[in-house]
Amino acid sequence: MKMRSIGLLSVAMLALSLVVAAGIYAATAPDVIELQAPYEHKKGAVTFTHQKHTSDYKIGCGECHHDDQGKPLTNLKEGDPVKSCFDCHNKPGELKGKKAEGLSDKEKLAYHANALHQNCIDCHKKHNKETKTKAAPQTCKECHPKGGE
Ligand code: HEC
Ligand code: HEC
Ligand code: HEC
Ligand code: HEC
Repeated sequence: MKMRSIGLLSVAMLALSLVVAAGIYAATAPDVIELQAPYEHKKGAVTFTHQKHTSDYKIGCGECHHDDQGKPLTNLKEGDPVKSCFDCHNKPGELKGKKAEGLSDKEKLAYHANALHQNCIDCHKKHNKETKTKAAPQTCKECHPKGGE
């Protein structure tokens, strides 16, 4: 039992050190990105702290960037070209409620804001639940300060 928990601890520490090491590769992406894909918006641009998410929150590139099959790009490095989410999730805006009824998850994901919301908010909810905080924004206004609901 004791050996086992030591084993688990060292695995956890190894995992942590790998994550920390990965954080050293700063992306060529700007530290902060004003997200506003090229279509007409109801809300203002969303301020996204790209650098903080990778270094401070230690989130791997593959949590957000994937290939044309949806397979995570876990080995993404500084200088690698990255496609915009809108290149693939290229239906403008968000589709939800009645309009989204009967559509498969795949069809809904084609809508840009559905894909972005799923990526950002699912992780935030999980993080808040695990840490018993509200540190990661879940409400419209926190991410959309202008024109939020
Ligand atoms: C964690 C942050 C986050 C939260 C919380 C969030 N959004 Fe968004 N939302 C985004 C991002 C990122 C985009 C994509 C912006 C872009 O690149 O154009 C987006 C896009 C949208 C769009 C499509 C673009 C536009 O302005 O018309 C709508 C509509 C929208 N969100 C509504 C909402 C509503 C309503 C809520 C609350 C129920 C909400 N969002 C909560 C991050 C968030
Ligand atoms: C929490 C989510 C997230 C993580 C983690 C993340 N990115 Fe990004 N990254 C984004 C989003 C969102 C964009 C904006 C995409 C768009 O404009 O559609 C972006 C944009 C970029 C861009 C293009 C910037 C530009 O303005 O052209 C590069 C390059 C990039 N990321 C590299 C990386 C690398 C390398 C890592 C890992 C060290 C990483 N990203 C981690 C979400 C993330
Ligand atoms: C090269 C095309 C491409 C790009 C660029 C792309 N996606 Fe995807 N994405 C896909 C495909 C393909 C899937 C899988 C769809 C399916 O299985 O129905 C997917 C799935 C997803 C999913 C579903 C859950 C998951 O992770 O598999 C989310 C959320 C998502 N993408 C968000 C994003 C965000 C945010 C960006 C930009 C940082 C992005 N995508 C960029 C093609 C792309
Ligand atoms: C894989 C997990 C994950 C994903 C994906 C993610 N975030 Fe976060 N986000 C976090 C964590 C963790 C925090 C910090 C919470 C804390 O301070 O403890 C955070 C904090 C934030 C904050 C508040 C603090 C700051 O740095 O500005 C904003 C705004 C934010 N995220 C926006 C976004 C947007 C927009 C997206 C999607 C493009 C996104 N996040 C995707 C995990 C994630």
